[in-house]
Amino acid sequence: MTEPDIKKGLAGVVVDTTAISKVNPETNSLLYRGYPVQELAATQPFEAVAYLLWNGELPDAEQLAELRATERAHRALADEVKAVIDLIPVSAHPMDEVRTAVSAIGASDPNAGGSVLNAGGSPAENLERSIRLFAALPAIVAYGQRRRRGEEPIAPRDDLDYSANFLWMTFGAEPDAVVVDAFNRSMILYAEHSFNASTFTARVITSTLSDLYSAVVGAIGALKGPLHGGANEAVLHIFDEIGDASNVKSWLDTALAEKRKIMGFGHRVYKRGDSRVPTMKAALDTLVEHYGRHDVAELYDALESEFVARKGIYPNLDYPSGPAYNLIGFDTLTFTPLFVAARVTGWTAHVIEQAGANALIRPLSHYDGVDERHIAR
Ligand code: CMC
Repeated sequence: MTEPDIKKGLAGVVVDTTAISKVNPETNSLLYRGYPVQELAATQPFEAVAYLLWNGELPDAEQLAELRATERAHRALADEVKAVIDLIPVSAHPMDEVRTAVSAIGASDPNAGGSVLNAGGSPAENLERSIRLFAALPAIVAYGQRRRRGEEPIAPRDDLDYSANFLWMTFGAEPDAVVVDAFNRSMILYAEHSFNASTFTARVITSTLSDLYSAVVGAIGALKGPLHGGANEAVLHIFDEIGDASNVKSWLDTALAEKRKIMGFGHRVYKRGDSRVPTMKAALDTLVEHYGRHDVAELYDALESEFVARKGIYPNLDYPSGPAYNLIGFDTLTFTPLFVAARVTGWTAHVIEQAGANALIRPLSHYDGVDERHIAR
């Protein structure tokens, strides 16, 4: 019998079409609905990019105002969601907290279960749920960080846009424009990336006609792992281990001898550099100047040049975003939840797309266990 051609990790396998984003490793580009992500990050508020991902076009002024009004109306966490979060030990990983909070929001949506005929919900219902989760996630993330620090939660501010309000709810101070801009760019860069592991998880769940919240909860679980979203947190752990740029060479000698993966480097699709990195690195540079932390830039550059020279493996988006979030003041454990707040836009756009042209995702496997046998009588 001929062995099937197994593609471990589905590497190189094209499983479906999508009109949401296009990753092109040859030209090192990433397009959201046709627009280069760099252009979007330089010119748009995150709310407009969320609208683009869901609807296919950038909003006009009226459409953006309407989305902003809905987002503002759903920023505050319901008491029952706060109560569920409060039951979670503060020692839990914040990704577990975010996953549970989204699940609680889903459980309190009376229509989330749908009917047998319309199990996953209509496109309009799913868009409404997407906007609600988009609006609630900053509050969940901010609430979690403040809870771990023993600080009181801070109510959202109606007069601030998404990114400024996110920082306000986390730190209780009105952020400087340069910080808001860097944060806004990071949200846009993290928003969408075709069939990555978490998005594919969301699509698999949607393909069974399950509901949007279940798809997002599953995606959060997939994102938590350090080979995916958990890498931005892991970058900071590495920076803490190295301490100073002068230690990079000796640290790398040991890490590579121990066959460790260097977090924030490498990518399944991009082999010659991640198209999002230059934009995020530029945002990090503005933060380095703003906070006067040239030591961070020195460590960043030293590790990048040494690792690229030795292995020819380039940084991915998590490499500049980790230190950027650290400079802004987020706890290291909060970095991957920030990725969730951004990626929920892409996930939900994929849920809506998958549901609109659904086929149950159910691949095959090649059995290589013991041959048929029977219980001895
Ligand atoms: N450090 C050390 N070696 C590496 C790294 C790394 N970061 N990345 C790849 N390699 C080596 C790997 O050991 C392997 O070597 P060999 O052929 O000698 O066994 C070779 O390069 C191919 O690696 P791979 O893991 O088979 O490649 P992949 O395409 O399956 O993995 C990856 C991609 C992202 C899982 C991997 O590069 C990695 O583990 N990176 C570190 C974690 C990380 O930064 N993840 C964030 C990914 S981007 C953001 C996101 O989508 O979430």
